Amino acid sequence: MKDEIETEIRDFVGSLGLDHHAILPADGNLGAALEAWAAEFDVGTDPTSLPFRLAVTETVESDGPAAQASGTALSGETAPGDRVKILPRGSEAKIARAESEGDRMTLWFETPVKVMPGDLIAAADAPAEVADQFEAKLLWLSDQDMLPGRPYRMRIGAATVYCTAASPKFKLNLETHEELAARKLEAGEIGVCNLALERDVAFDPHSENPATGRFALLHRRSDKVVGVGVLNFALRRASNIHRQAMAIDKGARAGQKNQKPAILWFTGLSGSGKSTIADIVSQKLHALERHTATLDGDNVRHGLNRDLGFTDVDRVENIRRIAEVSKLMVDAGLIVLTSFISPFRAERQMARSIVETDEFVEIYIDTPLAEAERRDAKGLYKKARAGEIKNFTGIDSPYEPPRRAEIVVDTMRLGPEEAAENIISWLEERGYLN
Ligand code: ADX
Repeated sequence: MKDEIETEIRDFVGSLGLDHHAILPADGNLGAALEAWAAEFDVGTDPTSLPFRLAVTETVESDGPAAQASGTALSGETAPGDRVKILPRGSEAKIARAESEGDRMTLWFETPVKVMPGDLIAAADAPAEVADQFEAKLLWLSDQDMLPGRPYRMRIGAATVYCTAASPKFKLNLETHEELAARKLEAGEIGVCNLALERDVAFDPHSENPATGRFALLHRRSDKVVGVGVLNFALRRASNIHRQAMAIDKGARAGQKNQKPAILWFTGLSGSGKSTIADIVSQKLHALERHTATLDGDNVRHGLNRDLGFTDVDRVENIRRIAEVSKLMVDAGLIVLTSFISPFRAERQMARSIVETDEFVEIYIDTPLAEAERRDAKGLYKKARAGEIKNFTGIDSPYEPPRRAEIVVDTMRLGPEEAAENIISWLEERGYLN
């Protein structure tokens, strides 16, 4: 049984064109999880009896729109004369010719139509759904826990989309099938949570069509599979909330302030000097008559984020909220200075990704642990070493230094005043202060 479902998962992951060898953690005891998951991967349904679905991997263009599309036939059948929908866009086309070889199928259209790799072609009279938020059931496979708010990539059909999960609604006790409260998922755990995607995808609820209702989650940058899942249903919420277009936009607000809005994202160990340097930078910007706002870990954790502690789960949520608040302030035309340890690359990347490319300036305050510990301005390292504070960054909780920060401040060589001066010059040279 265990072997069968393991093979099933590997085959599925392989069918998405992903490496299916190293997906299960070597030392993980996944027996119970795989057995419980077997029920999810419905092997019984005959895919040919379901409506037509084709995951597009290649297209051949004729003057722009595609005259021809190829990909993996996931379910159903099609023939010349059939009408199909091209999803998630929703345009329609008529099939002129269809050829298949094994699972591979190529379609020719009567008139060229916009189709792109990643699209799903579906029978027009029984189309798939389109949504960007779902409830999903997940089997987590990675040794790194699934953390709510952390960005992953979802591979569904031939599409790959960034996504984040909300807090699990529950995880399963694999012996009693009881629903347990959970804040994250560990390798070998099965849980249900809502997923939010960066854009629409086409899908069917897994109960209706297993081939278009299942997906793999990948690490946000590598193609490493971290989990597999099935989609229960789409959440209508997103389609009912429309973004309000504002007459006075970011450009108008920033223009009035003679500045280019941006987030100056200070990151570094506790005691590295983030807040000190950020404070001097904001004083200098103020003196230059620029408009700033400052968000600082120690302050924000007394208000907006006072419900959060220092577990990985809470730090991810801390940074998610800060990123969203900063984005609102950028929309208001401000230069925002944030100083949070923000120890994980994934969340700093997430913060970067929600604003425009040149609106995120990552500033790494590079102070070696030994030096931060020697300074120990707040006496916290001493307490952490004595075991009085748990999960302390650098001691028993990790810090992942930036690989490509816009600005690196080596505090062993530069004092806070000089560091702030350098940051102001950097901003001036790049037109932030016009
Ligand atoms: S973050 O990791 O979630 O980005 P944040 O910058 O908000 O952290 O808060 C860090 C500040 O909280 C530190 O400067 C320190 O004063 C305090 N603190 C209290 N407990 C811890 C801890 N376990 N690890 C790190 N900082 C802590």
